[in-house]
Amino acid sequence: MITAVHVHDQHVGQAPDAFRDDVIAGLRASPKALSPKHFYDARGSRLFEAICAQPEYYLTRTEEGILAAAADEIAALVGPDTLLVELGSGASRKVRRLLEALRPSRYLGVDISRDFLLQSTRRLAADYPWLEVHAAWGDFSAGVRLPPSLAERRAVAFFPGSSIGNFTPAEAEAFLARLRRALPTGSGVLIGVDLVKERDRLEAAYNDAAGVTAAFNLNLLSRMRRELGAEVDLEAFDHRAVFHEAASRIEMHLVSRRRQAIVIEERRFAFEAGETLHTENSCKYRLEDFQALAARAGYRSGAVWLDDQALFSVHYLVDR
Ligand code: AVI
Repeated sequence: MITAVHVHDQHVGQAPDAFRDDVIAGLRASPKALSPKHFYDARGSRLFEAICAQPEYYLTRTEEGILAAAADEIAALVGPDTLLVELGSGASRKVRRLLEALRPSRYLGVDISRDFLLQSTRRLAADYPWLEVHAAWGDFSAGVRLPPSLAERRAVAFFPGSSIGNFTPAEAEAFLARLRRALPTGSGVLIGVDLVKERDRLEAAYNDAAGVTAAFNLNLLSRMRRELGAEVDLEAFDHRAVFHEAASRIEMHLVSRRRQAIVIEERRFAFEAGETLHTENSCKYRLEDFQALAARAGYRSGAVWLDDQALFSVHYLVDR
C-alpha cells in the first residue's frame, strides 16, 4: 500500500548539511569541538537506536515507562485536535503510545537525518491511517518554523529523550524561548529531561559494555572520511565519556592516542597526544532547576511525571 506523507523540504530550521564547514571550524577552534547534531547521519541514527536498547542506557526505557503510565493524563491535559510536532523524531517509536492516547489530527516529524525521517514517517502513516502525517527535514536546534499549512492551530511539541540536555542550560533556555514564539499561542511542550544521579550510573550509560556509544562517537571520524575524504586514523582515537559534576553534565570526547593530524582538503589539523575533540554535552538537571529554566523561557509547569526511582522526568510545559 502507498501511504502519503506530506514532505516539507523547506527546512524547519537551518539547512542541515553544514557538516563540512562545522568540521573545519571545529577542528580549528581551541579547544576543538563539534556539535552533537552531526552524529546523526544514517549510520549514526542507527547506532543511536542501538544505544537506546543497551542495558546501561536507562534513559529510553525509563522515559517510555513514564509516557506509557501517563499517556491518558497527558491526553486529558493536551486536549483533542492538536498538531503534534516531534523534534528529532528519529525512529518515531516513543510517539506511538502518545498518538494512540492523544489522537491528534496531525503529526509533524522533524529530523536532521532525511532518510531515517522518511522511513519512520511512512511507517507511522501506514500504521495510523486516521492521522495526517507530515515530515520536515531540518536542524531544529537553530529554531523551528512550522510549514505555513500547519501554523494556525494549537500544537504540542514533543521533545523526548533528554535531547534538551545536549544544549548548555543557556542554550536550552534560548531554544525553549524561541520554540514558544514559533508555536501558535496556547501551545505546549512535552519534554523529557534526564535527572542528576550518582556518577557510576551516569557514566555507565555513556560507556556501555558492548561499545555502541564508542562506535557512535567514533562514527564522527568515519563520517569525515566518507563525506569529506578526510585522512584520519580511526584506530588512533578513543571514546571518552565522563561526568563533570560542577557543570552537571556528561562530556563526550574523542581522545587522540598520539601526536597526529586529521587532513581535510589539504588542511592539516594537528592533535597532541591526549588532546581531544569535544563532541557532546549531556546535561543532567535537578527538577527545580529545569523548572526554573523553563520559567525563564516563558513556560509554566503544567505537570511533571517521574519514574519510581526518580531517574528521569517528563514535563508538560504551557505558555504562561
Ligand atoms: C540524544 N541525546 C539525548 C543522547 C544523550 O544521552 O545525550 C545522545 C547520546 N549520546 C551518547 N549516548 C546517547
